Amino acid sequence: MSFNLAQLLETRHGENFQLHAQYLNPQLTKVVKTLGFDRFYERGEGCYLFDDEGRRYLDMLSGFGVFALGRSHPVMKDALRQAIEADLPNMIQMDCALLPGLLAEQLVTRSHDGIERAFFCNSGSEAVESALKFARASTGRDRILYHAHAFHGLTTGALALNGSPEFKSGFGSLLPGATEIAFGDLDVLGRELRRGDVAAFIVEPIQGKGVYELDAERWREIERLVHEAGALLICDEVQTGLGRTGSFYAFEHYGLKPDIITISKALSGGYVPVAAMLSSDKIFRSVFSSMDRAMVHSTTFKGNQLAMVAGLATLSIFDDEHVVEHAAAMGDVWHARLGELVERHEFLYEVRGRGQMIGVAFGPPTSLGAKLRWRAIEATRPAMFSQTLVVPLFHRYGILTQVAADNVNVIKLLPPLIAGEAEIDMFVNALDELLGDAERSSSWLMEFGVTMAKGALKRTRSGSASAAAAS
Ligand SMILES: Cc1ncc(COP(=O)(O)O)c(C=O)c1O
Repeated sequence: MSFNLAQLLETRHGENFQLHAQYLNPQLTKVVKTLGFDRFYERGEGCYLFDDEGRRYLDMLSGFGVFALGRSHPVMKDALRQAIEADLPNMIQMDCALLPGLLAEQLVTRSHDGIERAFFCNSGSEAVESALKFARASTGRDRILYHAHAFHGLTTGALALNGSPEFKSGFGSLLPGATEIAFGDLDVLGRELRRGDVAAFIVEPIQGKGVYELDAERWREIERLVHEAGALLICDEVQTGLGRTGSFYAFEHYGLKPDIITISKALSGGYVPVAAMLSSDKIFRSVFSSMDRAMVHSTTFKGNQLAMVAGLATLSIFDDEHVVEHAAAMGDVWHARLGELVERHEFLYEVRGRGQMIGVAFGPPTSLGAKLRWRAIEATRPAMFSQTLVVPLFHRYGILTQVAADNVNVIKLLPPLIAGEAEIDMFVNALDELLGDAERSSSWLMEFGVTMAKGALKRTRSGSASAAAAS
């Protein structure tokens, strides 16, 4: 009998959470249930998800930035169908296929003039791991510097550069010599660089965990210090790259010319995992220095034809639909609309970010009633306030968002780059209403409490059901 996906989805419909609890990450199942986010999504289109009850959700996470073009883009679907129908000879390995060459050419053309070559791989972390190896090979030095609160992935090398201790805890010793620099601290950076053993400083041009920025002058001083010390600047554009912040790369906002660039997420078209590390010919030749070393850095799926087609089609759609320009324009709309709320709502402190990468930061209010509510919430867990908004945003308004990081009262918005004013209005109106409620009374807090209690109950019930099934 042949494989029938539609039938499989129909006959096993509704088993998602039980299967995850039994065979995958059991804690994630608990988190999703506790928040009451346990929906059975059936379809995704553009900026929206649809569940099995026909309810529509505005997706402000876009798979952590993967769905730049929204979901199920017709041109992307057609491109992948064409690739499959063509029976492309995939991953011959002892060969140099056309499509990786074409995608590399496209990416190099869209980068600054010091970027000449591309290495393809499968995930953001793997691109970062590649960058670390190339930086070490090229400089003959070991040490890598990274920013506090940085996020570069969770493989062991990338994890060593994670600026949040909670991610590292429990995984033993990591890359020796990895050194944390307080965000934008030029003195500490200069001191570390003067030791003369630093291979590279890896940075996110706009930091994802909290959406933090430095000004252009500071960035250029960082670049100058790094280069003066003979080290390399790696810009990790896995999240910020490909138009997310309103320019093709986020470092363009600050006039930087990084030695190495990492990209991933959006390049996939939302379908095929793909990532790339880009840098100069000189840096590439320090790794691939002889024919004997032609495979010294590689990965089986590097030139996967479907991934290359996804990348090429993504860039083609970017051009045809002016996706980067649109993201830049929407950044202005976000700031204008959310800026009005900052004026009106005492819980809302600041709006950060650019393009379609927006951080909405909350802080203690001034009026007495609101202050008491804030204190009560924050006493349960630091930065709990933003969570009390994320839950009703989903349940009341059908908007999927997430808190930017542990211990920061920031909601991070990463909508598809194609999201327009209708989607911005939907979020802003919902937030406006919710913050109004939070300032007036505790009713929104009750709503949050009830949702969490129901979630906890569902969790316990399904826990006892799976225990009964296992016994
Ligand atoms: C800046 C940055 N670098 C690296 C990564 C890791 O990418 P991946 O999850 O594909 O390994 C991420 C993931 O969110 C990221 O935001």
